[in-house]
Amino acid sequence: MRNFLDLAALPREEVLELLALARRLQEQPEPTALAGRILGLLFFNPSLRTLASMQAAMARLGGQSFVITPGSGSWQLETRVGAVMNGAAAEHIREAIPVLESYCDALGVRAFAEGRDLAVDLAEQGFTAIAGLCRKPLVNLESAMNHPCQALADWKTLDELDVPRHAKFVLSWVNHPRALPLAVPAAALTMAAQRGMEVVVLRPAGFEMPAALIERARALAAAAGGSVTETEDRGAALAGAQVLYAKEWGSTAHYGDAEADARLRAALGDWMVRKSWFEDTAPDCRLLHCLPVRRNVAIADEVLDGPRSAVLAEAANRLYAQMAVLHRLLGTR
Ligand code: CP
Repeated sequence: MRNFLDLAALPREEVLELLALARRLQEQPEPTALAGRILGLLFFNPSLRTLASMQAAMARLGGQSFVITPGSGSWQLETRVGAVMNGAAAEHIREAIPVLESYCDALGVRAFAEGRDLAVDLAEQGFTAIAGLCRKPLVNLESAMNHPCQALADWKTLDELDVPRHAKFVLSWVNHPRALPLAVPAAALTMAAQRGMEVVVLRPAGFEMPAALIERARALAAAAGGSVTETEDRGAALAGAQVLYAKEWGSTAHYGDAEADARLRAALGDWMVRKSWFEDTAPDCRLLHCLPVRRNVAIADEVLDGPRSAVLAEAANRLYAQMAVLHRLLGTR
């Protein structure tokens, strides 16, 4: 494995090996496996879990890390090709990425979607530009349409919860005060499809998953014995579901149009996960969410604090999933 950019780009066997390695490192720590190795972390956007768990993963394997947050203690970085740099950004990624990689053995980068043009974000133009400048192993810490570290931790969590390979997995849109990126729902969709699950995307009209993401997930599901469908019928989606993966995302019908998005979501306050969603048809359904989550907007306290919630175990698994990725990228095999 040269980079870790997209879980779905790895053959299924390689994902299963990573999961086995994550379990092994959880049970049998290797505190010197990455001694002398340095990980650079470049965060264009905020984080709690990804930042802390990457640093902790490196430290638990005996390595070290440094963190750069452009515009907050270090220079604001320009990413546009051919930009006239007479604004806030003092440095271009064309210099910053090669400089940073010269100080470390691998680089992790978080660079969210611009959220203006769906085609641009689907093409991962921003992250691809960064990847093209980096010759060291690169880890995607959330790009426009992907969050592979989250997806690997989610798969590990499903295994720990004994969720059968072909179980029903509902990826449900939930409310939020404003549009959020598609990276996590896209990664959860492809992860569940790659695992071989019966995947149902549940969302109101105007929040459809982009066709390219659905098509890719369907191909992955077909190869793994699963399926992918999309609906706005909550009752039908949740009937028999074993996992509800709740996530907020922006309107794809009005991508980049904050006012139109806000008008649409103003009438969708009932898209908050409550106990009543599960009562009759999905009594054993477990709840996942990548966090951070807005309590009593996206998910009610009664569910987050109840027995079906696995969100803390899911977040804890970020550490072990990323230890496996770093061990594979930087360890001697
Ligand atoms: N789930 C996740 O990536 O969390 P952070 O944004 O806090 O890193």
